[in-house]
Amino acid sequence: MTDRVLYLVVCGAPLAKRVGDGVRAARESGWSPYLIPTDAALPWLETQDLEGAPVLTANRKPGAPKRAPVADAVAVVPTTFNTLNAWANGNAGTYPLTTLCAALGARTPTVAVPFAKHDLAGHPAWLASLAVLRYAGVRVVNPHDGSSTALAPVASGTGEEVAKRFQWSWVLNQLQEAGA
Ligand SMILES: Cc1cc2nc3c(=O)[nH]c(=O)nc-3n(C[C@H](O)[C@H](O)[C@H](O)COP(=O)(O)O)c2cc1C
Repeated sequence: MTDRVLYLVVCGAPLAKRVGDGVRAARESGWSPYLIPTDAALPWLETQDLEGAPVLTANRKPGAPKRAPVADAVAVVPTTFNTLNAWANGNAGTYPLTTLCAALGARTPTVAVPFAKHDLAGHPAWLASLAVLRYAGVRVVNPHDGSSTALAPVASGTGEEVAKRFQWSWVLNQLQEAGA
């Protein structure tokens, strides 16, 4: 059986430093991961061993062939305040956002791991966006403990610690439960 295709969208927050681990964990679970980083995530990727996983940045040129097969599932790890709100609002102004908006519209099984500190998470748009995404079937995973029901902000200055304790099995198990 060929591996299932996982688009791994990566945003600019400390959990982005675990993407290399995500590539390994996904492959061990039978996924073929394609990395789709935002511009803000790129500095976190530079120092990691991504084990040759394809990294898709920016839109392909008109007429150029598609760079990846259709996704069986999508994981957004981490999901920043910026991307989560833009995604929920249907803002498709970048390649990662177009990918996420299309996946939501197609109801592709998707897991998001929101990563925002208390002040950003206190903005009313955050709760509204989470509600929209959950309504559309996105599974929202707490970066602290993998819970899919209770999401907590990341206290300022603890991002690295939360990233260290994060387990990719939380995401992969949710994808499995979503039927992906
Ligand atoms: C060191 C560092 C840590 C950051 N941590 C977070 C974070 O935890 N959550 C968040 O939403 N934004 C965080 N940001 C800000 C985002 O990178 C910024 O809002 C960016 O525009 C997000 O773009 P993206 O959504 O396209 O990835 C951080 C930025 C830096 C430089």
